[in-house]
This record gives sequence, C-alpha cells and structure tokens, in this order.
Amino acid sequence: MIRLDKYLADMGIGTRQEVKKYIRQGRVSAGGAALKKPELKIDETKECIAFDGQEIRYAAYEYYMMNKPAGVISATRDGRDRTVLDLIESRKRKDLFPAGRLDKDTEGLLLITNDGALAHRLLSPEKHVDKVYYARVRGIVTDEDVRIFREGVDIGAGEEEERTRPAKLEIIESGPVSTVRLTIQEGKFHQVKRMFACTGKEVVYLKRERMGSLVLDASLNPGEYRRLTEEEIRGL
Ligand code: URA
Repeated sequence: MIRLDKYLADMGIGTRQEVKKYIRQGRVSAGGAALKKPELKIDETKECIAFDGQEIRYAAYEYYMMNKPAGVISATRDGRDRTVLDLIESRKRKDLFPAGRLDKDTEGLLLITNDGALAHRLLSPEKHVDKVYYARVRGIVTDEDVRIFREGVDIGAGEEEERTRPAKLEIIESGPVSTVRLTIQEGKFHQVKRMFACTGKEVVYLKRERMGSLVLDASLNPGEYRRLTEEEIRGL
C-alpha cells in the first residue's frame, strides 16, 4: 500500500508537491470517482489510478535493454554530456540507473533499471556473471594472449597489483587490426582496454554483447532500447 501522491510521483506525473495540487484539483480518479486526499492509501498491485482520465498503471520496477551508442555517458546525470537516461523517453520511474557502466566510446548492451538488488547480483564480482564483449584491437592477437588472459592479467598501475580473474579470449580474426570476443566476470574500470594494453595492444572498438543470460537484441540500433520481456527478467 502506498500513498496516492507517492503513486503518482513515482510514475512521473510530477513532483510530490505538484501531484498534491493535481489531487486537490480533482484531476485524479479511480473507477470514475475523484480522489481528493493525497494521503489516501492505495493498493498499487490492484488499484488503477487515472490522471486527467488516463489510466496510470503502477510499475514498482522497470527494466530496459539499451544498445548504448558511443558518445553518451552511462550515468544518471552529467552536467555536460548526454546520459543514457536522457535517451529513455518512455520511462515512468525517476529512480532508474544503468546497471554497470560502459565507457563513453563503448557501445552495446546496457541494462537500465531501478531494481538495485538485481543490479547488485549482476555486477558483484563474487557472483561470477559473464560479461561478453566484442572488440577490435590494433595489433595481432595471438594464442599467447589467450593464455595470458586465461591466467589473469595484472592491470594495476605502478607498484599496486590489480589482477583480473581468468578471462576467456576468442580470436575471431587476427591481423593488423584483430577482432576478438572476450568474456570476463568482473567490471573493473576500463577493464577490457587495460587488459589489452598489458599485451601492448589498443582497443579501437568495443561493444558489450551479453551480461549473464541477457543478450543484446540484434534489432536494436545504437541509441535504441526496449523493455525486457517477462522471460528475460525471470532469467536474470
Ligand atoms: N571494459 C572497458 O575497457 N570499457 C568498457 O566500457 C567496458 C569494459
């Protein structure tokens, strides 16, 4: 049960103050009858509230899959740059955040939700959830790199060791610019780029393809997003 004003504010109708005003103005109703008390308790799982005659179904959680485009920041707010949240026009909840960051120049799968427990399960290094990346790398990637990544790489700067967990590197094509697929189970800062830098190579294109059971929908162009299906949510 939640308060009527919270119900409407959570669904993005306005701030708590604004929705209180709308309620007093008689713009909020249930089953055709105006509800005039902001403190009225609503069973958000059963009742459906209307605002200006439009039904507003309550969503406790929202889950979006985005194909993040390059040039956009994986943050909730940024003074200068556009963020992934700026791209989601259909959202109801104001408390959405990206579950795990991708660099500004990285593309691909990003889960955007307000489900903190789920995000924690996906991102915690102890949970060993696979993150799969497709990359183009300047330099010839060799079987020796595969071995080095399998054993874990020290990506620490200077004296400080920062060893990655074993990672699976698949060479798709080796050449002056190689294409690879890399599976890691952590999300250290710039991890993929730093792993390749350790072998003297530069990542020139990076895209996340999968996180655990969640696979980037191939029909989403960079910048596009969709809600997760029930099955995808269950899978996570
Ligand atoms: N590793 C990186 O280096 N960058 C990303 O955006 C994600 C993983």
